[in-house]
Amino acid sequence: MKLAVVGGGSTYTPELVDGFARLRDELPVTEIALIDPNGRRLEPVAGMARRMLAHAGHPGRVTATSSVEEGVAGAQAVLVQLRVGGQAAREVDETLPPRCGCVGQETTGAGGLAKALRTVPVVLEIADVVRRNAPEAWIVNFTNPVGIVTRALLDAGHRAIGLCNVAIGFQRRFAGLLGVPPSRVSLGHVGLNHLTWERSVHLDGRDVLPSLLATHGGEIADAVGLRPELVRRLGAVPSYYLRYFYAHDAVVEEQRSKPPRAAEVAAMEAELLQLYADPSVVTKPELLAGRGGAYYSEAAVALIASLLGDRGDVQVVNVRNDGTLPFLDADAVIEVPAAVSAAGARPLPVEPVEPLYAGLIGHVSAYETLALEAARHGGADRVRDALLAHPLVGQDAVAEELTGLLLEANRSFLPWT
Ligand code: G6P
Ligand code: MN
Repeated sequence: MKLAVVGGGSTYTPELVDGFARLRDELPVTEIALIDPNGRRLEPVAGMARRMLAHAGHPGRVTATSSVEEGVAGAQAVLVQLRVGGQAAREVDETLPPRCGCVGQETTGAGGLAKALRTVPVVLEIADVVRRNAPEAWIVNFTNPVGIVTRALLDAGHRAIGLCNVAIGFQRRFAGLLGVPPSRVSLGHVGLNHLTWERSVHLDGRDVLPSLLATHGGEIADAVGLRPELVRRLGAVPSYYLRYFYAHDAVVEEQRSKPPRAAEVAAMEAELLQLYADPSVVTKPELLAGRGGAYYSEAAVALIASLLGDRGDVQVVNVRNDGTLPFLDADAVIEVPAAVSAAGARPLPVEPVEPLYAGLIGHVSAYETLALEAARHGGADRVRDALLAHPLVGQDAVAEELTGLLLEANRSFLPWT
């Protein structure tokens, strides 16, 4: 089985390769094609990937190319994990919005919009190459903002599913607290990518979330950066991205005095690339654990194994709403548990969503619709509308100022500016 990774020169790639090596019984990979336009990253990362497979006694081979056509040809699944503009563009996403009093984050709020504007056209172009060269392949999209990018792919008729590690992270954390293997834990996960709540945690079919919160509420709240009182009162666990909403002003205040995450990650990446270039390093470096992508390889392996092996098991993915959340457009992309088989991911029915969550989900989903319009068709007015629709921006004067700043800073990525 051949897999292709677009953005294969990412410093995250060894995380993926580690998963392919450990979980080889679940997913017998024979070739991993790493595709990246940047040879200075691709070369050390591919070398590292080869050493990791060899060290694990894995028979698969790693190929490296800058050509998407060549890399995806014959692949059964194509993982897309790219970052247009690298950490430098991310730093702009994180630092511009706070100048206007808004949270600076690469997927949430105005920064997420800028990222969508840069990213959607690039991913759509790549997906067209996949359609021509590997028409049967599934596209597994990790590229942020995952909800918007996945919707763009689905709207263009691609065989795509969006994936994020937030849900698998919670599953592993709760399983750890319960002292059971993760396979026995399933989540009542609902919302949009990076805007989700765990409303139940089933252990062997029984909801243990109330007792988990009673015993470990403080620790769980801490992990998502929210007050224990809030989490206990909700009786649900918001993802840590909800902190940007529930503690918006406090986060903006923090961001004024802290270096942006992009700068931290850029420093880590430089160090990681050095390690990857060192022939004596043959296993995933510890440093990689400092990135946010924990369990990302496990989620990817499970998803691809179920798509290609028609397993029909339940995984949390980004899919078309199609009536699952009746208060959203059918075409919206949501992040919920879905049965994954050769036919794709079919969302399971979801209990009615309380207004406390439905309001925010609806609001952000409408923003995502407008953000995608702006990313696909360009135009400062579309950007303004998306910002005006976002609950973390909303005001005319702020939307106006941010539109100017974001378009100016991203000019080189946006042919229509
Ligand atoms: C989590 C999110 C990803 C995001 C990452 C950022 O894993 O689910 O979507 O890309 O965090 O991690 P980083 O180390 O780049 O800050
Ligand atoms: Mn994510």
